[in-house]
Amino acid sequence: MNIDLQGRTALITGASKGLGLATALRLAASGAHVAIVARGREALDEAYEAIKEKAGPRRVAAHVCDVTQPTQIDAAFHAVRAQLGPLDILINNAGGHALGHFHDITDAMWSHDIDVKLMATVRMTRLVWPDMIERRWGRVINVLNTFAKAPAAGTAPTAVTRAAQLALTKILSKEGAPHNVLANALLVGLIQSDQIQRLLGHNVPRDGGDFAQQQIGNRQIPLGRIGEPGEFADIACFLASDHASYITGTAINVDGGMSAVI
Ligand SMILES: NC(=O)c1ccc[n+]([C@@H]2O[C@H](COP(=O)([O-])OP(=O)(O)OC[C@H]3O[C@@H](n4cnc5c(N)ncnc54)[C@H](OP(=O)(O)O)[C@@H]3O)[C@@H](O)[C@H]2O)c1
Repeated sequence: MNIDLQGRTALITGASKGLGLATALRLAASGAHVAIVARGREALDEAYEAIKEKAGPRRVAAHVCDVTQPTQIDAAFHAVRAQLGPLDILINNAGGHALGHFHDITDAMWSHDIDVKLMATVRMTRLVWPDMIERRWGRVINVLNTFAKAPAAGTAPTAVTRAAQLALTKILSKEGAPHNVLANALLVGLIQSDQIQRLLGHNVPRDGGDFAQQQIGNRQIPLGRIGEPGEFADIACFLASDHASYITGTAINVDGGMSAVI
């Protein structure tokens, strides 16, 4: 399927690395103007150059922004809007590993997880929403994990935060639908990224190495391997496109069949 995003403008949070970067590259290659935000300047600059290469004549923007900080979200959004114009596509992707047992999770850990995932999504979406509604075209894609629907022992605080984002996605889909603004969630299992490299050790081979093999065994990834960032980017790009014009308010597992629930 040839996905054409010419004339569309996308903002992806947490896109200097991993799944966010893979998606930014994919959207740029499909013709979109692309803006990325993350905290670290160096990785952001490298990502900017890589996206520029794919984007050709299309415009690219990169801004330092910690999505836990409302003033930084505000500043980044307004800078991007001034550079690229109103946004058509928002991918709320920034986040990170936060898995533990309930009794070990402090208030600070709960607050951080809620800020970086739920509140960042609330705040950024609130800013892009009016333009999408007014222009009668919009795509909000929230990157969550499979625990959003299938919480288990040892998955606090992330399973709770992701479930809240799942509820938010549904609300956005219901309120956006009359205005042709669509909202969906992607529920990630285990996909190769900087985060996964940090967790599993460096230079993880395609089959995931020993630790991942154990995870594959324990967590039963039926496809028998960790996912590739490009496999995630493909579905994100599809949801961002006109091809997904009748899909809203849904959550898609991108997990090699790992989740116990649909
Ligand atoms: N990969 C997986 O298997 C997996 C599984 C389940 C869920 N997910 C979710 O998918 C998303 C992407 O994960 P990933 O594996 O690609 O992670 P990653 O490789 O660690 O990349 C995370 C990106 O987000 C940025 N970021 C982190 N905290 C941020 C903050 N407070 N403000 C702005 N940017 C921030 C990072 O840059 P800086 O550090 O420089 O800010 C980086 O660009 C996350 O929400 C993650 O929880 C991934």
